[in-house]
Amino acid sequence: MKLTGLSLIPALALVAACSQQEEEAPQDVELTLHEVMKNEIDVRADEVWAIGNAALDDQAGIDPDLMSDEDWTNLAAHSLSLRQAAIDLATLDPIIVTRPGVKIVDEGVPFGDSSADVQANIDKNPQGMRDMANALAAHMADLAAAAKDHDAARAGPLINQLDGVCETCHLEYWYPSQKEIIEQYINEGVLDPAS
Ligand code: HEC
Repeated sequence: MKLTGLSLIPALALVAACSQQEEEAPQDVELTLHEVMKNEIDVRADEVWAIGNAALDDQAGIDPDLMSDEDWTNLAAHSLSLRQAAIDLATLDPIIVTRPGVKIVDEGVPFGDSSADVQANIDKNPQGMRDMANALAAHMADLAAAAKDHDAARAGPLINQLDGVCETCHLEYWYPSQKEIIEQYINEGVLDPAS
């Protein structure tokens, strides 16, 4: 903008421009939580579960006979990759859920929580979200170590518990409104948190 033009801009327009700039600030963030969740966490967790599911024994653990050296190497690599995604989540600063206009899944369905709801949950306690993301990172470091040791007895339970690590954060920050009902279902055995 040419400096000479500035004086022609009415004061009100300047105010409007400033406040608009503030609203658009999230567009400048490098990554949103939603992007980390969809493009990193979810896809990388699927890779981990795919290896685990292919080697399930009848106790829902890992059958070492079904794991090749390559499977163990891949499990270790995908675990470390998910660990990095969790660190990306933990280190978001500021934590912005979505860019303007982006909707999260289920946002439009009855009782579906919106991006603004999630943002409000996080703004109340951002450190709590970071702690849970770091807990996921630590869980994945443990799984990577078990995979490096080809230790099915350690790896199996860690893969089984992974879903619970995701769910703990989702219940707190994504859909806390459904916490009570989901906990009730779990207590009544209607819902299995490990499934
Ligand atoms: C530290 C908190 C946290 C952890 C841990 C976490 N999530 Fe999320 N996740 C969220 C929040 C907050 C949302 C809601 C915002 C959104 O939908 O993008 C979400 C939403 C999602 C969504 C919906 C994305 C969409 O399209 O809107 C998926 C899928 C998901 N998470 C998968 C996972 C999986 C799989 C794991 C575990 C491996 C996991 N998440 C762990 C916080 C977390």
